[in-house]
Amino acid sequence: MNAREVLEFYILSGVDETCGGEVLALSGGALPHFSEAQKNETRFAARPATSSLALSSAAAVKSADDVCRNVRTMDELRQVVESFEGCSLKYNAKKTVIGDGNPAAKVMLVGEAPGAEEDLAGKAFVGRSGHLLDKMLAAVGLDRNSCYICNILPWRPPGNRSPSDAEIAVCLPFLKKQIEIVKPDYIFALGAVAVNSLLGNSESISRLRGKWQEYESSDGRKIRVLAGYHPAYLLRTPAQKAKAWADFLRLKKALCENNQQFNALLQ
Ligand code: URA
Repeated sequence: MNAREVLEFYILSGVDETCGGEVLALSGGALPHFSEAQKNETRFAARPATSSLALSSAAAVKSADDVCRNVRTMDELRQVVESFEGCSLKYNAKKTVIGDGNPAAKVMLVGEAPGAEEDLAGKAFVGRSGHLLDKMLAAVGLDRNSCYICNILPWRPPGNRSPSDAEIAVCLPFLKKQIEIVKPDYIFALGAVAVNSLLGNSESISRLRGKWQEYESSDGRKIRVLAGYHPAYLLRTPAQKAKAWADFLRLKKALCENNQQFNALLQ
């Protein structure tokens, strides 16, 4: 096959996106112009290129913890994440997406990972899910000035695939550091990946949503966590919007009660 035919074959097979300019790992089989020996050589030659970029899982988690240890501000965190070499997702992503909104907000929303539009813009929740999220926030009187919005992962997984446990583990120190810097009173975890990663459980989002739980931040602060459906799920399943609305009202109620307590303290 010539290059054009290969491309046409990919397009017909449903491949609509490239994940980088270099071959990182090759599946067996479809290498028509290579001898068996060359195929093996190519497979084994390609692998180390990935693993030299992404450290082994445990070493990568330790490295992420280490680089975050002395970080005090969001700018420092951005620099640290942008120069981090322990997660291969970074090498397929166009931009590193940290957080958006007010880093001094009482409410922090945590999603899963940047999508295609966020990857291009370098900003969390700016695509279709983000538009829906903005509308739901507005419905309870919130916006990006009164919330901080971020993700479990700062890099888009290729083709929007689900992140692996190892990728989540490596990126979790970056999220924990954001929580430490923002010091929110409330975290709204959007979807199963967000709530499971944050609370270290594996229960389904349909069981967890609408319930308040607790997260203890690295500095010992106890933060109330509410789980809710991810906006992307709501776009696919609009019948669940009523439950999402109820969850946003729960968040609003907690914020109002918090404000009342705060005002009472001032009187
Ligand atoms: N989905 C997410 O979880 N986060 C984004 O930033 C965009 C889509």
